[in-house]
Amino acid sequence: MRIQSVSRRGFVGGAAAALGTLAIRPDIALARGVRRIPGWTPYWGPTQSQTDEYDALAHLSSNENPFGPSEKMLEAMTYAFKYSMRYGFPNNNVMQKIADEHGFTRDNLLLGAGSGEILEVAGLTYLGHGKKIVGVEPTYTTVYRTATGIDADVIALPLAADHSQDIELMVDTVNRHYRDIGLVYLCNPNNPTGVPVMADEVAYLLDNIPEDVPVLIDEAYHHFVDHPSYQESLKYVHEGRRVLIARTFSKLYGIAAMRIGFAIASPDMIEEMRPYSTGSVNVLAQWGAVAGLEDVAAQQAYLSHNRRFREQTVADLEGFGYESIPSETNFIMVNLRTPVAPIRRAFRERGIAVGRDFPPMLEHLRVSIGSEEEMGRFMNAFEDIMSSTATTGGSRG
Ligand SMILES: Cc1ncc(COP(=O)(O)O)c(C=O)c1O
Repeated sequence: MRIQSVSRRGFVGGAAAALGTLAIRPDIALARGVRRIPGWTPYWGPTQSQTDEYDALAHLSSNENPFGPSEKMLEAMTYAFKYSMRYGFPNNNVMQKIADEHGFTRDNLLLGAGSGEILEVAGLTYLGHGKKIVGVEPTYTTVYRTATGIDADVIALPLAADHSQDIELMVDTVNRHYRDIGLVYLCNPNNPTGVPVMADEVAYLLDNIPEDVPVLIDEAYHHFVDHPSYQESLKYVHEGRRVLIARTFSKLYGIAAMRIGFAIASPDMIEEMRPYSTGSVNVLAQWGAVAGLEDVAAQQAYLSHNRRFREQTVADLEGFGYESIPSETNFIMVNLRTPVAPIRRAFRERGIAVGRDFPPMLEHLRVSIGSEEEMGRFMNAFEDIMSSTATTGGSRG
């Protein structure tokens, strides 16, 4: 076989010419025969008018922090831009900082591109053909979707009448299907209801199922819980239980678009999961996360804003005759007593994005707690939409 040598000069010149073409006129590069993958449409980003529409929306659909990253986080991320071209970049000791903050070592940690990746990795690790995952419905469905994609079964249990998770039913179900259970999923507090599972019930669950059944506890919203009977579940990892805690920087710390989350579990579980993870978290996210952990004042400011506007929104809705499920998170679910889908469209027509359908709770609207301005717009639109729904034969009252 003949190996053709390319002179450095020729190579650099050719590459620069190709890059120049691509950078300046992507349409020409395509026309000259750069192959398209079938079914793939090149994405050049939203148009200006689409971006303007997005920016003008009240974003009350995805439980985001309306303030975004704090000044200190922005500073850290801006500094880290200078490493954008590197692979082995300084990461501001992110693993050690997260480990210290939670009282663990780096062996207990797995980083993910959002806790969504952690949920997927847990599903891929512990499920598979013929395996079952047990959890409730409605809940956050990433791990259920992973399960379905790899031919595992989802046992989705109904919520109790007060919208809490029926832990006794969960225990019975796990024990009944013990041989086939790959994973138990406990979203605590639960999304979309906002209801936490209290400490004694988490203990009951873990004490009454076989100790080799892995339990994934999704604590995406744990920072928001004030209820005195609630506790984080980190202590169960210290106790050596087969428990895996998923956490995120998308909510309290306000960097959902940066994509960083993590798992805390025993070193054994971390090693079981590692082969399924990409291990790829970008440099800005890592620097932003460290600054976010350190910026306690920003965390407190957002938590008190959230508490205040959650309480006020619940009271205002009650004033209009609509009851919300008591929430310990940065969103609420209000019972509209009429199908939510057309109401959601009416909100969207008024420039307000609210939560999607959460079957089987199709008459409950999930609303994230946004900025003061966004909540004002929401309440004005609510009054407008629901009064016309009532007068046109909706089921208010
Ligand atoms: C309960 C729950 N878990 C996990 C996630 C995933 O968050 P992220 O992937 O942004 O960390 C979300 C996002 O809304 C969530 O509500």
